[in-house]
Amino acid sequence: MRGSSVLMGGEPGIGKSTLMLQLAASLQVRGRTLFVSGEESPGQLRMRADRISVSSERIEVVFETELTAIMQVLEQVKPVLIVVDSIQTLYTREVNALPGTVNQIKVCTQELVDWARSRGAAVVLVAHVTKEGTIAGPKLIEHLVDTVISFEQASAEIRTLQAIKNRFGSVDEIGFFRMTETGLAEVVDATSLFLTRREGGNPPGVAVAPVFEGSRVLLVEIQSLTVPAKSGISRIYSDRIDGGRVARMAAVLEKHLDLHLAEHDIYVNVAGGIRIAEVAVELPLALALYSARTGLTIPAATAVTGEVSLTGEVRPVPGMEKRARACRDMGFQMLMGPGGTGAVKPETGTFAAVEMVKEAVRLAFASASRT
Ligand code: TYD
Ligand code: MG
Repeated sequence: MRGSSVLMGGEPGIGKSTLMLQLAASLQVRGRTLFVSGEESPGQLRMRADRISVSSERIEVVFETELTAIMQVLEQVKPVLIVVDSIQTLYTREVNALPGTVNQIKVCTQELVDWARSRGAAVVLVAHVTKEGTIAGPKLIEHLVDTVISFEQASAEIRTLQAIKNRFGSVDEIGFFRMTETGLAEVVDATSLFLTRREGGNPPGVAVAPVFEGSRVLLVEIQSLTVPAKSGISRIYSDRIDGGRVARMAAVLEKHLDLHLAEHDIYVNVAGGIRIAEVAVELPLALALYSARTGLTIPAATAVTGEVSLTGEVRPVPGMEKRARACRDMGFQMLMGPGGTGAVKPETGTFAAVEMVKEAVRLAFASASRT
């Protein structure tokens, strides 16, 4: 978007510079693209460009970290797209501090963002983020930009690109990439990326769920583990699914199924490492918790979807047909999901409608053996 600013954060080595170069090379912009490189030497950038077959004619590059000098180049080149790699290497003499410190980052960001806004250019600022994501700098400039994008390693192979804040569009879409010998390649069919293939049945604590990430359905494996709490106070450890949601499902299981979870620590994870915010994850989450606590397993060919209310009812979720199709395509024999008022029954595959979480538990573990 012209006049807009984007902050793209990611750990060192994730592929930020590669992605930016590919972006600069492939965008069809009417006007010039300026790449401000504060991290790499001309030789290093050249090597990277050769590796991913980017011709340099389309991109102007400046190797500079001092803001005034960069602003002069901007005035000369008048680019419509500016990439700054990285914001942490820039400094201005106005601020008496080292590059990468909060004030330096703030002042440099503000100036670049203002320039882009007033000239109708778009600026992308690359920022390094540490594993904990806690580096002070980039977090503190999120409010200065229109869009914040996070580039993360989801599994050994897969990297995800996801908007955290987006003034001009949704934050639901997620892009999947693989790093290849010749740059980043998009993974177009991501449905089964996060499924764990196993010989034989599921271990206890595992449920597979079709969830929407933006407009596409991914099949994800929800894993949970319950252990007696050492301190007698139960805790929830879950950073892929909201902890409040896990607590609610645990409470529903206690109340409606007499499943004793108090004095237990609960661990929840999503294999592959993506975060799930969709409510449709509730029924599979509840079944995974039940499975973990009882040792009973969910059949490997069954996938589960649905929202769960505090009353123990399974509530409808949208996109049932698309979820069912994804499950069928990935070889699942049954999808279990909402069957009550307002629920849409999918046409594809075998569908097991459930109205209460109790019913879902009975059905899921009907043929299960304790392991
Ligand atoms: P890079 O873009 O430098 O990451 P960042 O800017 O986020 O620090 O690239 C990260 C890694 O990717 C680097 O270790 C080399 C590797 N790589 C490839 O595997 N293939 C390629 O085509 C390129 C350019 C890099
Ligand atoms: Mg880099």
